[in-house]
Amino acid sequence: MSTTSIEDLFVHNREWAAQVERERPGFFTGLMAQQKPKYMWIGCSDSRVPANQISGLEPGEVFVHRNVANVVVPSDLNCLSTIQYSVDHLKVEHLMVVGHYGCGGVLAALEGLRLGLVDNWTRHVRDVRDKHIKLLESLSPQWRHDALCELNAIEQVVNVAQSTVLQDAWARGQKITLHGWCYSIKNGLITNLEMTIPGIGGLGEVHAAAVDKVAQRKRD
Ligand code: CO
Repeated sequence: MSTTSIEDLFVHNREWAAQVERERPGFFTGLMAQQKPKYMWIGCSDSRVPANQISGLEPGEVFVHRNVANVVVPSDLNCLSTIQYSVDHLKVEHLMVVGHYGCGGVLAALEGLRLGLVDNWTRHVRDVRDKHIKLLESLSPQWRHDALCELNAIEQVVNVAQSTVLQDAWARGQKITLHGWCYSIKNGLITNLEMTIPGIGGLGEVHAAAVDKVAQRKRD
């Protein structure tokens, strides 16, 4: 486990900045001119799920919003503002909602644990659990947590797709594709949940197929 102190972080930072500049002179001044990321990532705040490292993306390549259990609530001004800015101004081409197996927020929602104020936030994940309760109960208890992590990412993609930001972008012909993924902290791999939405139509069909695959997915 890490035993870093606050001072160490500044040491690391100076070493990193010097190394980047040594290996790629002008990297930082190049980024100063503009950010033009192709991707937006909505993920969990969990410290084990760092967007850039997992996907091999560098500073300037991914616009990130993270919160507990990667929830997209239609009235959350914070999340919607990040989506709107990345879609309307940065013109990202892909937006992925990335859940992760072993998510504590999802487990709290699944089991009704009381953790404090955050319970009100994970209430949104409880809604996902309640919506898919038949599917979850059809699975062996040991797989329900993983399955709800996947279902939650799938349902949050629906919330992004139905936002006015995406509806307006697609209506004006902007090319942006939504994705639902789930990351494993056990082996570092991302599972594509096949919740891929390239435009305004077909959401219901893609959603139904992705939910079916949650029930069928082989787990070990
Ligand atoms: Co989490």
